[in-house]
Amino acid sequence: MENFIEVLKLVKNYGDFCAVDNLSFEVKKGEIFGLLGPNGAGKSTTINILSSLLTYQKGSAKINGLEVSKNASKVKALIGLVPQDIALYDYLSAYENVSFFASCYGLKGQDLKNAVNDALEFVGLLDKAKLKPKKMSGGMKRRLNIACGIAHRPQLIIMDEPTVGVDTQSRDYILNSIKKLRENGVTIIYTSHYMNEVEELCDRIAIVDHGKLVACGSKNELIALTTDVKSFQIKFKSLSTFHSEKFIIETLNLPSIKNVSINENMIKIDTALDYSDISHLFDYLKDKNIEIIAIQTLVPDLDTVFLALTGREIR
Ligand SMILES: Nc1ncnc2c1ncn2[C@@H]1O[C@H](COP(=O)(O)OP(=O)(O)O)[C@@H](O)[C@H]1O
Ligand SMILES: [Mg+2]
Repeated sequence: MENFIEVLKLVKNYGDFCAVDNLSFEVKKGEIFGLLGPNGAGKSTTINILSSLLTYQKGSAKINGLEVSKNASKVKALIGLVPQDIALYDYLSAYENVSFFASCYGLKGQDLKNAVNDALEFVGLLDKAKLKPKKMSGGMKRRLNIACGIAHRPQLIIMDEPTVGVDTQSRDYILNSIKKLRENGVTIIYTSHYMNEVEELCDRIAIVDHGKLVACGSKNELIALTTDVKSFQIKFKSLSTFHSEKFIIETLNLPSIKNVSINENMIKIDTALDYSDISHLFDYLKDKNIEIIAIQTLVPDLDTVFLALTGREIR
């Protein structure tokens, strides 16, 4: 897949403070790319540079082959930015807000009307078109903020923490809308400090901390950086005839089993990370008359990865 965005050795200083420190990553066309990092990691600074709202000291940031610092207006035409701080006009209705932002991109007449209606429908606010932001909940304002950023149908949508302060229902709505955008072939940069959202949504993820790239890859590639196993915990009904040492030795001989331990009536088995079919293990347990009460899969998540790579929890 071709690269739509290329960031190379990017440096941004605010006075003496280095907010983006030699950052490099690439975003492929049509993917949802996550920028994941704690508050202050440099996520907003990076995407504000990509949106040509901020200048930078060193390195390069290209969108569709265009260096953003030298092609501000061309780059802006490709992008829809959904900013971290909600940017809406309180005295305009939902419809008028979206219409204002879409008209800034040159849409007018029936095209503009269609674009505004589509965007409001997309975020589930078409029936609230006449409502002003001050009468809206936090979640509705966030959704309207998204409609304003995407109405002009940009090729690249940049969303900066779009789910901060929203209720669960709006959050789910937003995440599902983003997945729909991907189906339409749009490229998306999604920044967040919520691991679970990034895990659920993003095709590839750059973990950033103190302005530096910690690691970049798909969720599975990131997990593989820190561990090569997946664990299963199997709770079984105690058997007086059960011989745990013999069981361990025999189980270790089964394919793809890396480690086995037993604690009372709980067996913990580590398999290869990419190994999903453990039916032979169940056949074996059945053969031994071991009755399974519960099974739990312990797949490492991005929290574990972040902790392993930075030595800290994300928050
Ligand atoms: N205009 C500014 N002047 C000085 N420091 C700033 C400015 N904007 C951001 N910073 C600092 O740069 C760092 C990165 O900020 P930011 O890009 O907003 O991080 P994030 O979006 O990951 O929370 C933070 O330490 C922040 O305090
Ligand atoms: Mg930010």
